[in-house]
Amino acid sequence: MKVAVLGTGQVAIALAKGFASRGHSVVFGTRDVQGKTALEAVAAVSGSSAAPYAEAAKSADMAVITTSWSGTQNALQLTGAAHLAGKLVIDVTNPLDFSTGKPALAVGFPSSAGQQIQQWLPGAHVVKAFNIITATRMVDPKFEDGQADMFIAGNDAAAKAKTVDILKSFGWRTPVDMGDISKAYLLEALAMIWIEYGVSRNYWAHGFSLLGAQK
Ligand SMILES: NC(=O)c1ccc[n+]([C@@H]2O[C@H](COP(=O)([O-])OP(=O)(O)OC[C@H]3O[C@@H](n4cnc5c(N)ncnc54)[C@H](OP(=O)(O)O)[C@@H]3O)[C@@H](O)[C@H]2O)c1
Repeated sequence: MKVAVLGTGQVAIALAKGFASRGHSVVFGTRDVQGKTALEAVAAVSGSSAAPYAEAAKSADMAVITTSWSGTQNALQLTGAAHLAGKLVIDVTNPLDFSTGKPALAVGFPSSAGQQIQQWLPGAHVVKAFNIITATRMVDPKFEDGQADMFIAGNDAAAKAKTVDILKSFGWRTPVDMGDISKAYLLEALAMIWIEYGVSRNYWAHGFSLLGAQK
């Protein structure tokens, strides 16, 4: 697949490395193809390239949203919803508000970033995933004391099946499907538990495991 990774931050690079190492081609979507982060992202992922958001999305089979929440609506406006219509769009964002100095949810129940993104991209098949783990453990996740689980939510069964395949190829066991995109708020609240634990301890090597899950 040709994968448009929208954004050029640490999550973008981590997931781009995952896709590239599994034989997919990666194009980063960015506001500035010659900007520092775009150049660093392309240098970090062999075979990748960078293009303006719209161009990256237009040429891709699927996309991954790795933008900061404050920049996501603008990034998707620059991308153009039509360029993602009918495609799998994995949403990795957490809708964080840093204005008080400590991360808090900017959007919450009954809404969510995932649901807002689905509204901004009405023709796309948005699947929330990867938002409950640090960038460095999104691919080949390893934990000394067990296996972590990934949770997903999205409306389209085929898009979720494709996301499951991607997660498995990245080293995750079968993810926990929480339902349609209206359940994205649960994944974003779960991320807040993960973030609160990390911020209070300055420790980011933790993940969630659903014990006794149905086989
Ligand atoms: N860091 C983690 O470990 C982690 C874990 C789970 C989830 N997340 C979530 O994943 C997302 C990415 O996190 P990150 O730390 O990798 O990156 P980030 O520093 O939050 O930003 C990523 C990208 O957002 C784009 N962006 C920012 N403002 C924009 C604007 N006004 N318009 C258009 N694009 C804009 C930038 O791309 P360009 O400048 O190239 O356009 C930037 O490279 C966030 O939503 C975060 O909450 C992060």
